[in-house]
Amino acid sequence: MRKKIVAGNWKMNKNFEEAKALVAELLGMVEAEASTTTEVVVCVPFPYLLTVQQLTAGKSIKVGAQNCSEHTSGAFTGEVSAPMLQSLHIPFVIIGHSERRQYFAESYAQLAKKTDQALANNLTPIFCCGEPLEVREKNEHEKLVKEQIEASLFHLSATDLQKVVIAYEPVWAIGTGKTASAQQAQDMHAVIRQHLASKYGAAVANSISILYGGSVNAGNAAELFACTDVDGGLVGGASLKSREFTDIVKAMKA
Ligand code: 13P
Repeated sequence: MRKKIVAGNWKMNKNFEEAKALVAELLGMVEAEASTTTEVVVCVPFPYLLTVQQLTAGKSIKVGAQNCSEHTSGAFTGEVSAPMLQSLHIPFVIIGHSERRQYFAESYAQLAKKTDQALANNLTPIFCCGEPLEVREKNEHEKLVKEQIEASLFHLSATDLQKVVIAYEPVWAIGTGKTASAQQAQDMHAVIRQHLASKYGAAVANSISILYGGSVNAGNAAELFACTDVDGGLVGGASLKSREFTDIVKAMKA
């Protein structure tokens, strides 16, 4: 059985006081909605990981990082390694967000190594894929997303692949208020699952959680989450507001 997951990606937002206040609000609200079937994750900026981890200890909210290095250790000023995250007992890490691909030129090979680092250090990678607008307009979105997955994940064993969570985030829907329709999301999630099945078999493909991301909000979450192949959401802007994020978590339960 694959897991249902609602993950917030705070990106580079909130100062420390604001971050603690948001966690306190979420603990008051999300906790009441927590179910045994839905995992709730907040992916916070590096400096807040330990505090948020401590504030949420023993509660239903799990913590994730937004990136990790492809290297284990060494002279890589400014980088944070997967072993460091593991030493803080952080369970999740986002890998290959489109903003990392776009602004930091993260390559397919680098993302394969980051995924390896995450898995070697018992972190669950939330591996992001998704096409820019011009690719969808050329009707090449399925081809590109399959390529992104193949290039950075298909070297994994079936056992390791099953530890990965995939997030489909069409770039044109991120931060734009323009969500993919439930049909567009379902179609791409089915394509992704089929692609995984072509290499790893249907049983493995069916065990992998595929989240949708891109302008998910309290108003559209229920329809998106109701799609057969949508196992949850990776939420940006709406995860910065406690009431709205809680309503998104609730939409998963419904
Ligand atoms: P928005 O929900 O703000 O569109 O961001 C989505 C996203 O990039 C989550 O990783």
